[in-house]
Order: sequence, then C-alpha cells, then structure tokens
Amino acid sequence: MPPRILVTGAAGQIGSELVAALRKRYGGDTVVATDKAATRAQVSAGVLEQLDVMHLSSVERAMKSHRIDTVYHLAAILSATGEANPDLAWDVNMDGLKNILDAASRQGVRRIFWPSSIGVFGPDAPKALAPQDAALNPTTMYGVTKVAGELLCAYYSHKHGLDVRSVRFPGLISSEARPGGGTTDYAVEIFYSALQTGRYACFLSEGTVLPMMYMPDALRAAVTLMEADPSDVTLHTGYNVGAMSFSAGELAAEIRNHLPGFQVTFAPDSRQAIADSWPRSVDDSAARRDWGWREEFDLKAMTSDMLTRLAQRLGTGQKTFNTAGGPRRKR
Ligand SMILES: NC(=O)c1ccc[n+]([C@@H]2O[C@H](COP(=O)([O-])OP(=O)(O)OC[C@H]3O[C@@H](n4cnc5c(N)ncnc54)[C@H](O)[C@@H]3O)[C@@H](O)[C@H]2O)c1
Repeated sequence: MPPRILVTGAAGQIGSELVAALRKRYGGDTVVATDKAATRAQVSAGVLEQLDVMHLSSVERAMKSHRIDTVYHLAAILSATGEANPDLAWDVNMDGLKNILDAASRQGVRRIFWPSSIGVFGPDAPKALAPQDAALNPTTMYGVTKVAGELLCAYYSHKHGLDVRSVRFPGLISSEARPGGGTTDYAVEIFYSALQTGRYACFLSEGTVLPMMYMPDALRAAVTLMEADPSDVTLHTGYNVGAMSFSAGELAAEIRNHLPGFQVTFAPDSRQAIADSWPRSVDDSAARRDWGWREEFDLKAMTSDMLTRLAQRLGTGQKTFNTAGGPRRKR
C-alpha cells in the first residue's frame, strides 16, 4: 500500500519540487499538497488545499478527511525573514510544528518528515565538519526554533511513539520555486542574475563558505530517510547531511566558466552575521552509516545542471551548459 501523504508549505522552495517527486514515486492521488497561500502554478497537478498550520483543528481535519498516514511538514519561516520578524518565526515554527505533532498523534499518523537546518549550529560549533552531536547554541531565532523543534520531535518520538525523522539541510539550490527568505538565497539568485542581466550584487562577502546542496539530492535525502527501516533510524532529532561547500566567490567563478562576461560585486548586509555564525561543512557520517546518505551533485555538476534547467525555464537562449555527464559522485 502506498503511503497517504500530507505536505504542508507545499508551494515553497522544497515543497513545489517534493510534491512532484512524491506524486511520481507513489502515485498522483496519494499526495495532498497544502499551503497557507498557494496558486495552482506553484504545485504540480493534483490535490491542492489551503491549510494554515497555525490552526490545529484545520490540520486535524485535513489529516482525518484524507486518511493521512505520512506527513512532510515544510511550512516555516526561514532564517533571514525570521531575524527580521522573530515573533512570527517563533509562532509559525514552534506552534505549527506542535500542531502537526499533536494532530498526528491523535489521527494515527505513522511517520513525519520535518526539516531541521544547519541553523541549529552557533558560532561556538566547529567550523569544519561540525559534528552531529556538537553543542547547539544558535544566535538566530530561526536556529532557536530548529533546536527546540528537534527536541520536540525527539520528545514526541519517545513519548507518543510518533516516527519523526529529520535532516539538518544546508542551503538548498534549485531551479523551480524561488527561495523564501534564507541566508543562502544568494546561491539561487545569482543564477537568475547570471542568465537575465549578466551582473549580480551578492549580499554575502566573497570568502563566505557555507554548506550547500542541490535540490535533487535534498529530495532524495528526504525520501531515503523516510523509507529507511525503522531499526536503522537511530536519531529522531536531525541528521547532519552534507553535499558540497563553496564560497560565494567560488560559485561566481564556476558560473563564469560558462558565462565569461558575468560580473559579481560583494556588498554584505545583515545576513552576513547569520552566515558567519554557521559552520563551513558538517560531519554527516551518522546519516551515511544509518540510512546510506550519499550526495550526487558537486559544485561543477550542480552549476551546469542549474544553468541548463533555468535557461530552459526562463527562455534565455542557450540550451546546454556543458553538463559533463550529469551528476557526479564525490566520494
Ligand atoms: N530552503 C533551504 O535552503 C532550507 C535549508 C534548511 C532547512 N530548510 C527547511 O525546509 C523547510 C521548507 O523550506 P522552504 O525553503 O521550502 O521554505 P519556503 O519559505 O520556500 O516555503 C515555506 C512555505 O510555507 C508556507 N507557510 C508559511 N507559513 C505557513 C503557515 N502558517 N501555514 C501553512 N503554510 C505556511 C509558505 O507560504 C511557503 O510556501 C523549512 O522548515 C525550512 O526551515 C530549508
């Protein structure tokens, strides 16, 4: 029997691609896509409902009426928006998650995916290969909600027997929905600017290195973890998952390999402080050991695929960007 899946925040950067991937994998009518505010164009064909995760009774009604057994809870406020509006970030990220966990416990939902983030780490965590069990002392409200959220997920797992699974996503790069207010958004915006105007003003400094991941790898991480045998999932907080790390300058240079005239300037704004509080890379050996995590895209493979897909979507002319054989395994 295929799972009966509810996705919250389905119109966002992850949701818009995850819904399509889940429908392809399990069948179109197994996935109920929901968002507080979504237009048809943002979500692949199939059921799309308006659902505000702040309303517990609405969440519970949606789970009951669609006989949901699996939830991908993506509705959230991201790091930069959260720093600008910490009350909203606390309310949506904490109350929204607790509503999902409470409704799921009562409605017999079997399994929940909830993305945590590298935002759980604070300035005191090791910058290189931040360990799975590093002390978590974030300095952003977003990070505070992710640490508290991880603990809440672990609590519902052992107290209520809910099978909650989570990864600490790094910055995600994708060619479909635009990112929703995070500190790593530059790594998506830069591609649009490269293709549309040939110049980009980056809001992080040239040397800022952060962990990143291409969306196809992120979707695979989520689905692989959710399909893993329960006995293999030893953590119900958030697994570190790594894929690639690069500086803003290195990404600009890689794009310039394809578009030689591309001009980038660097003018750090308030998001620089958030980036400076995060590690450059994470140690994801627990995810590799427990459920076989393995990324496919490195900086080169991601850049050529991103340019090719985005150029097609934006209709900017050039058809391929030297894809060099597609995905490339690093290790
Ligand atoms: N995108 C990244 O780089 C990244 C990295 C690490 C973790 N994450 C996590 O992944 C999850 C999804 O991120 P994303 O990038 O798709 O975010 P996004 O901002 O692109 O999308 C979030 C969606 O949630 C919806 N939403 C907001 N408030 C809501 C509410 N009250 N009820 C229902 N829907 C609501 C928004 O309309 C939006 O469509 C979040 O938990 C985020 O913290 C994302």
